[in-house]
Amino acid sequence: MLKTHTCGELRPEQAGQEVVLAGWVNRRRDQGGLIFIDLRDRWGVTQVVVDRDSAPEAHSVADQARGEFVLQVKGIVRIRPEGSANPDLPTGAIDVSASEIKILNNAKTPPFYINDDERLEREGLDESIRMKHRYLDLRRQKMQKNIVLRHKTIKFIRDYLDQQNFVEVETPILFKTTPEGARDFLVPSRLQPGKFYALPQSPQQLKQMLMVAGFEKYFQVARCFRDEDLRGQRQPEFTQLDMEISFVEREDVMELNEKLMTQLVETVAPEKTIMHKPFPRILYKDAMEQYGTDRPDIRYDLRAIDVSEIAGESGFSVFVKNVQAGQPVKCIRAPKMAGELSGTQLRKVASELEDIAKKAGAKGLAYMALPLEEDAEVKGPIGKFFTVDQKLALFEAVGAEPGDLLLFMSDKREVVYSVTEALRPMLASQLGLLDPNTLGFCWVIDFPEFMWNEDEKRWDPSQHMFTMPIEEDLHLLDTDPGAARGSQYDMVCNGHEVAGGSIRIHDREIQKKIFPLIGLEMDHAMEQFGHILEAFEYGVPPHGGIAWGLDRVVALLAAEPNIREVIAFPKTQTGADAMAGAPSPAEPGQLAELGIKLDLPEDDE
Ligand code: AMO
Ligand code: AMP
Repeated sequence: MLKTHTCGELRPEQAGQEVVLAGWVNRRRDQGGLIFIDLRDRWGVTQVVVDRDSAPEAHSVADQARGEFVLQVKGIVRIRPEGSANPDLPTGAIDVSASEIKILNNAKTPPFYINDDERLEREGLDESIRMKHRYLDLRRQKMQKNIVLRHKTIKFIRDYLDQQNFVEVETPILFKTTPEGARDFLVPSRLQPGKFYALPQSPQQLKQMLMVAGFEKYFQVARCFRDEDLRGQRQPEFTQLDMEISFVEREDVMELNEKLMTQLVETVAPEKTIMHKPFPRILYKDAMEQYGTDRPDIRYDLRAIDVSEIAGESGFSVFVKNVQAGQPVKCIRAPKMAGELSGTQLRKVASELEDIAKKAGAKGLAYMALPLEEDAEVKGPIGKFFTVDQKLALFEAVGAEPGDLLLFMSDKREVVYSVTEALRPMLASQLGLLDPNTLGFCWVIDFPEFMWNEDEKRWDPSQHMFTMPIEEDLHLLDTDPGAARGSQYDMVCNGHEVAGGSIRIHDREIQKKIFPLIGLEMDHAMEQFGHILEAFEYGVPPHGGIAWGLDRVVALLAAEPNIREVIAFPKTQTGADAMAGAPSPAEPGQLAELGIKLDLPEDDE
């Protein structure tokens, strides 16, 4: 080894020892006769002092060193003199008095500050420069911490599942379509020209095959590929903790995963608080009605409450007409948000919120601001349309208190969902209710088996085509598929879907029934999925499983807003690797070998 110790481990106990350190120059301060170098490696930073009088050769080398140079330093550990200790640094009680310094490599001036995360945050950092020089970005303390946290997370999961008798099995990347609702990435075959592999969107089919094969408890830290737009928390290639178990019911899978998640958080991120244990369970339809989404952030309340009955009796014609047409009126109570606001301020706040609502499809956003004084009038455009009794009934229905701002939405149910979904996080952020150290886990269950796809005029599986309908709803497949509930369960945390799974169909007759419902012609289904139906003729155990979005879990644990921050080499918004420049054109010879001729629109050529 070129070092005897790391840059994070020396303490006063080692005073007097001769040590060799190696790492990068984090910072260098030249005070003439003395040069101070903060030497950094993965484990920390140690201050090296080079004295011109006692070590003239080392001093002249230190004189040439610059930020990010790679150095090897030999020296003696000393306790720092009174008053010069740095309590913020774990090694801050000592320094190393250098006797020899070797420059192992020099470095260009990096395009951004590697050694000062605070400064970077303050000044903002161009994303494209970070991604182009990801190897430098990853040198930053915060990024090192994130990647190590990811390692610890995966290690914990592997150990835990190993103890529970799970076996990790690798499944192929070159495979056939395993649809999860996205587009496939295709890989052309050279040996069979004109044919393509599809990269798996998940190991779904393969893990079910492993259940047929009798492994009973399978998991895999699995790479998945989905050619979709990179909205929000998505990457075209991402990692799942994938799991499948035989002879289980929904409850078993949920319980195991809840325990695993809880222990994981308590072990690798003990600073986090899990809001509710056990995790609350929310029915899909309640989630939609109250939170407007199937991945509710339950850290804050701000639920939409149905006040159609009261509003339908009011004098506000929009509400009255809508309620007569069967459309709801819902109210979100923003506690103390009107508070001390003047009339002008209130109108400004309301108009900003209305803009958000309109972007989400609303025609307007009516409001009532409750005064702080007992007998003052309610402010806002619609107060006058409600009688005193109607107002009192409203306030009771939503639990209103003085100073609250009540927001009213009325439209088609789907529009009210979107508006609720858009408003809640905005309000929560303005009210300071988003604590990243609180993890509000919940389960969402009883999803519909199918969602109607109006464009294609067919049913889409709301999870995937292998999800078992809930037993008592099986008969609905023939009569009213839209009403059948699936056995799907999603684990949600702070507004993100962190995991999703289901009990699977293990009966080929039921599986066969699903294909035409989702618009898959039987011969096409046989071509794509015949192997599953065939396997299902050989004694399939009842089984179910789940997959976690591991990137999302680590991002939550690291309190990072974007999964890019916990992936070593993520893709950019355009699906590119900015560092290596992928994707890139293929050599003409490669294309010829594959029998591929390009036919691109002119400006792409
Ligand atoms: P699903 O499609 O819900 O289920 O995926 C499971 C979890 O993976 C995460 N995820 C993603 N993370 C980053 N980038 C993406 N593009 C992306 N897409 C999904 C989410 C999601 O909850 N085979 C089923 C699981 C099963 O039924 O067992 C599946 O893949 O956190
Ligand atoms: P108007 O009568 O159009 O001036 O609207 C009075 C208030 O009701 C305004 O604050 C509008 O934003 C609001 N509003 C209008 N239509 C709706 C609707 N469909 N849902 C909720 N609020 C609405």
